[in-house]
Amino acid sequence: MRPQSVFALLPALAQGIRIIQSNDDGWAELYVRSFHDFLLAAGHDVVLSAPAENKSGTSSLDIEPFPRNSACQYNSCPPNSRSPIGRNDTSPRLNWVNSFPVTSMRYGIDTIGPQHWNGAAPELAVSGPNVGSNLWLSVPFSGTVGTAVYASKQAGIPAIAFSGASGGTLAWNTNPVPLRSTVYAELAGILVDKVVQAGKPYLPQDVWLNVNFPDVKEAEGKCVDVEQFKWVLSRINPAGILSGKDVSTCGADRLPTETDVVNEEDGGGCFISVSVGDSNDKTTASKEKQKVVLDKLAGLLTCLP
Ligand SMILES: *[C@@H]1O[C@H](CO)[C@@H](O)[C@H](O)[C@H]1NC(C)=O
Ligand SMILES: *[C@@H]1O[C@H](CO)[C@@H](O)[C@H](O)[C@H]1NC(C)=O
Repeated sequence: MRPQSVFALLPALAQGIRIIQSNDDGWAELYVRSFHDFLLAAGHDVVLSAPAENKSGTSSLDIEPFPRNSACQYNSCPPNSRSPIGRNDTSPRLNWVNSFPVTSMRYGIDTIGPQHWNGAAPELAVSGPNVGSNLWLSVPFSGTVGTAVYASKQAGIPAIAFSGASGGTLAWNTNPVPLRSTVYAELAGILVDKVVQAGKPYLPQDVWLNVNFPDVKEAEGKCVDVEQFKWVLSRINPAGILSGKDVSTCGADRLPTETDVVNEEDGGGCFISVSVGDSNDKTTASKEKQKVVLDKLAGLLTCLP
């Protein structure tokens, strides 16, 4: 039986899989914890391995973790642990690594995850939801993107980076949990479910999905319910004169940029961008790889108005 859950919506689970999870805002940030809880409630075997503190904007930096002498973010671990990695002893799926986001993903994939999975490797890597958007020009600097790129390229694990436009930092134990944190968790869970249901291989090689959620406008009652959001296939960087065609969809062979998608206000707004990223250079992947993703996400994706 599934654990009791605060989430309004739980996908009809096809199968639980082994998921490694990271972020760059820190292991004790609420967005990553809400998503973790959602994946657990949906029946996935998920393990979090994330930086001990906020390491936003650290791109693909990766150095060996070093002993920690101060408390973790929001006092989430004791000072003077003198340990390079640590965990929540009562919830050992929750782990911190005293280094950069990519390092925490690497440890999660190589060491921490397999300890939970009888030595098996993760089947999917997810990152975030990041606190704040990771669109186009910010993509190369994002640690959240860095972890997904590392997982997909260096480790060969299909990977998805999630980011939410609504900002404001929240400790893991914020009570009650603000709406934006559960909405982003549920949306990310919907995409994971869709990708898993479409079967293996979950994504083409050397590809990660860069997913950006628009603002949850609680005061206006806009984009507050997962049913109000719409998913659109996008590209990361605007096409230049030398860019090849994109996959043919929505009556064109040029995808909208992710910035265009999340800023779209017509048709009720609340559009989510899903870009197929090339893990070799953090730009938009080829139309052939876009096509694989388009087919996998059929039924979920829609067109801009
Ligand atoms: C992390 O730090 C960056 C700046 O370095 C800041 O913009 C961001 O809001 C912080 N995030 C969290 C979750 O504290
Ligand atoms: C550790 O896990 C316990 C039990 O799930 C929870 O009550 C506590 O808030 C967690 N602390 C951190 C820092 O994760």
